Amino acid sequence: MLRDEDRIFTNLYGQHDWRLAGARARGDWDGTKALIAKGRDWIVDEVKKSGLRGRGGAGFPTGLKWSFMPKQSDRPCYLVVNADESEPGTCKDRDIIRNDPHKLIEGCLLAGVGMGAQAAFIYIRGEFYNEALRLQAAIDEAYAAGLIGKNACGSGYDFEIILHRGAGAYICGEETALLESLEGRKGQPRLKPPFPAAVGLYGCPSTVNNVETIAVAPTILRRGAAWFAGIGRPKNEGTKVFCISGHINAPCNVEEAMGIPLRELIERHAGGVRGGWDNLLAVIPGGSSVPVIPKSVCDTVLMDFDALRDVKSGLGTAAVIVMDKSTDIVKAIARLSKFYKHESCGQCTPCREGTGWMWRVMERMVKGEAEVAEIDMLLDVSYEIEGHTICALGDAAAWPIQGLIRHFRPEMEARIRQYREAAARRAA
Ligand SMILES: Cc1cc2nc3c(=O)[nH]c(=O)nc-3n(C[C@H](O)[C@H](O)[C@H](O)COP(=O)(O)O)c2cc1C
Repeated sequence: MLRDEDRIFTNLYGQHDWRLAGARARGDWDGTKALIAKGRDWIVDEVKKSGLRGRGGAGFPTGLKWSFMPKQSDRPCYLVVNADESEPGTCKDRDIIRNDPHKLIEGCLLAGVGMGAQAAFIYIRGEFYNEALRLQAAIDEAYAAGLIGKNACGSGYDFEIILHRGAGAYICGEETALLESLEGRKGQPRLKPPFPAAVGLYGCPSTVNNVETIAVAPTILRRGAAWFAGIGRPKNEGTKVFCISGHINAPCNVEEAMGIPLRELIERHAGGVRGGWDNLLAVIPGGSSVPVIPKSVCDTVLMDFDALRDVKSGLGTAAVIVMDKSTDIVKAIARLSKFYKHESCGQCTPCREGTGWMWRVMERMVKGEAEVAEIDMLLDVSYEIEGHTICALGDAAAWPIQGLIRHFRPEMEARIRQYREAAARRAA
């Protein structure tokens, strides 16, 4: 369990003042100038040593990503912050922005120095209207106090922050679709390479990071890489904000140590499963894209990148969606299929056609109005989509169905049998 003194987001629940004065009282913007003075290489090395992995879903090592930015460039370099937060079940970035916006703003500056960026563009989900107002107010405070802008914090470094509101599309959370949208075009993912570090926003070297990734950076730099790396397990270090929703007694966001057992996370912070742990059916542990895991796996699994990968699921955005035994699991996954079909941008044929195909078959599976052989066909189609599209939306649509078939095939078969028996009874 995370010790109180190791908590980075000390205002996650908004119990204190989010404004600059309150943030400063909690330690934000303390010694920022001195951190900048330690230089670009020090910042990147420290983040590398901390073991921080991206909090937006893929878990790519953050310091390594920053090191891909060119040391010398005849074009400006940009940090782009992904505040699109549209993965179902995920609501952590919203609370960070609402209640701890200065951690993000200070993080932009320090990450910007680390990667040699002159500006940060924060792309915020369109529906986060109130959050955008608050974040802009906090940015304005930081400008007024000389913390960002020309000669940020008196360091001699010039750094601008621009807030941009999206228009509400899941695909715009994919980093290159986000760049397209930011440039004023339709949000469709770009072919890679070139990667954003070479050709990103407006054709300039850019790095896209999640809100939480950037917001934890100042505390890591202030307290030291060793402190952060001392929490969690090797290759899965640090703290993480988990979003716990569904059939639990007290839904919440909570910052915990990476690697906390799933059961402990739910029982300690979310009031336990409705009706008790034995009433648990399954959990989607990392936002709607990652495969569901049944109770037998939930009993012992640890909440980090590698432990969840080992049970063929993923930490994703760490959005824990809890389903008790009252859940119609086939219907729940079919609902996700509808979401992915709706959100596919249509650029790649396997995703455009496949998400609709999978959704239609899933709708029949819900009723049992299908052939047993179609379960394997559904699985085959999911493999045809996975890995065959420009971005990972195709994977995200395929994985929930793969998880369902892996763990709940008997339920699907039983439903088909029951449908047939009922039809036979009606005909008799
Ligand atoms: C369809 C799709 C939607 C995504 N949505 C988000 C999002 O809302 N927020 C986010 O931070 N990352 C999202 N990502 C991941 C980003 O592409 C990217 O990996 C991330 O912003 C990198 O930040 P990180 O290294 O700090 O994790 C999405 C990816 C895909 C394929």
